[in-house]
Amino acid sequence: MSEFAPFKALVHQRCGLHLEGLAEARLFRAVASLQASTGLTDTTQLLRKISRDPALFDQFVSQLTVNETYFFREPDALDWLVNTYLPERLTTEQPPLSIFSAGCSSGEEPYSVAMMLSERFGERAKALFTLTGGDLDHQVLAKARQAVYGGMAFRALSPAFKKRYFSPHQGRYKLHESLRQWVTFRPFNLLNANEDSPGGPFDVILFRNVSIYFDQQTRRHIHQQLSQLLAPNGILLCGVTETLGNDLGVFELTEAQGIFYFRHAEHPAIVPATPLQPSLLAMDNMAEESISVAESTNKQIASDSCTDVAPQAPHQHATENEPTDSISHQLHTAHRLLNQNAFDDAATLLEELLKQQPWSIDALVLAGLVARWQQQPQLAYDHFKRAIYVAPECWPAHFYLAELYRQGELTGKPAQCQRSYAAVVRLLTTAPTSNGGLDTITPPLPPGDARFLAERYLDAVNLTLASTSTTQGVG
Ligand SMILES: C[S@@+](CC[C@H](N)C(=O)[O-])C[C@H]1O[C@@H](n2cnc3c(N)ncnc32)[C@H](O)[C@@H]1O
Repeated sequence: MSEFAPFKALVHQRCGLHLEGLAEARLFRAVASLQASTGLTDTTQLLRKISRDPALFDQFVSQLTVNETYFFREPDALDWLVNTYLPERLTTEQPPLSIFSAGCSSGEEPYSVAMMLSERFGERAKALFTLTGGDLDHQVLAKARQAVYGGMAFRALSPAFKKRYFSPHQGRYKLHESLRQWVTFRPFNLLNANEDSPGGPFDVILFRNVSIYFDQQTRRHIHQQLSQLLAPNGILLCGVTETLGNDLGVFELTEAQGIFYFRHAEHPAIVPATPLQPSLLAMDNMAEESISVAESTNKQIASDSCTDVAPQAPHQHATENEPTDSISHQLHTAHRLLNQNAFDDAATLLEELLKQQPWSIDALVLAGLVARWQQQPQLAYDHFKRAIYVAPECWPAHFYLAELYRQGELTGKPAQCQRSYAAVVRLLTTAPTSNGGLDTITPPLPPGDARFLAERYLDAVNLTLASTSTTQGVG
């Protein structure tokens, strides 16, 4: 048995996190970091210490959680919640209605809801709704309470909202005090939702982009915990790709206006809604795709991911032959502008740069990210595809290409989404610390996080596609 197995078992038992496969690398780093900070090199002693010292255990767990989040993530569900579901509920129920973000990370999700509710209900919003965020990770909760954000958090937020709800603060942006104070943040463990109670019962629980870190048995246990926190008429919303994986028999899966959510089985829906057979879910959008997946299973992922790009690109980094300081300086400047959300300035600089160095991987990846945040998904796609053509090992380009599909910015291609995430997993399995062919900038996401997320998303996409194919077989 590996010396790390007892650490895995402890974390799984207390927090549910499944630290197999890729997540092991996180665990190794976290153990090494605790060994350095405590001076305890003997892993048995270290294990005994963290299992008895709650503060140290929290510090350890903070290094194991994946806290990726941003404002207005998967906005369709939030839009439906704020502009359709909650107004309907208010026609029959006394306010305040309570909303809980379970696994809120650094707060972008509940604060996004706060902004949207303010837009819809104005000054009355705070009297109509309570907002709570809960997370296992104490470090992200501290960030959430501060409500000071930089670059990537704003990637999907419109400049108008940013201007309306944030003020510049020491090179970053602080959420306005009235919204910050509206949201209450609490330490919360999904595994012990009742002991570690965040309040409730809640009318709405957001459980988005969290369940991918748990195995199925743990997810079912979490559903049972959440069902105690959900009000009789309440709804539970999961992330877009997680819905099928969460249909575990504890809640009833329901659809309204294209949004899928869960509710207690015995209660009627408040808005017009149709309970669905799980297998029918995937049929709506993905029936055609299962055929192309079946056809493509024997093909090479990398070569699939590298088709449809401009011919005759040199298979080398443009900067390799011309390592001039000015190019590298401009790349760093573009990267900084991107992180400051100065998208127009970054785009102008990168356009110039790409005229000089059309095959610079760094410039192509940055230009793809800028285009994505300027809501130009097709342009983003073109840049990422070019990056992959020049450097098939460019996992950041594969990752963000997959994200364009998963987030619905480019529509209707789960098979391509699947291939791109698979490429990330394959590349980072072979070279776990690879910089993805980037010469100058650091990858926008640590390789360990990218591989971890890609594996989880891949599972979700595979599940959806498998369900589609089963349904087709039956039908
Ligand atoms: C990827 S973030 C999702 C944030 C947000 N819900 C969103 O959709 O953007 C997942 C969060 O779940 C939290 N988490 C993981 N295990 C948890 C547990 N057992 N109890 C509560 N939170 C947990 C992590 O700390 C992390 O902040």
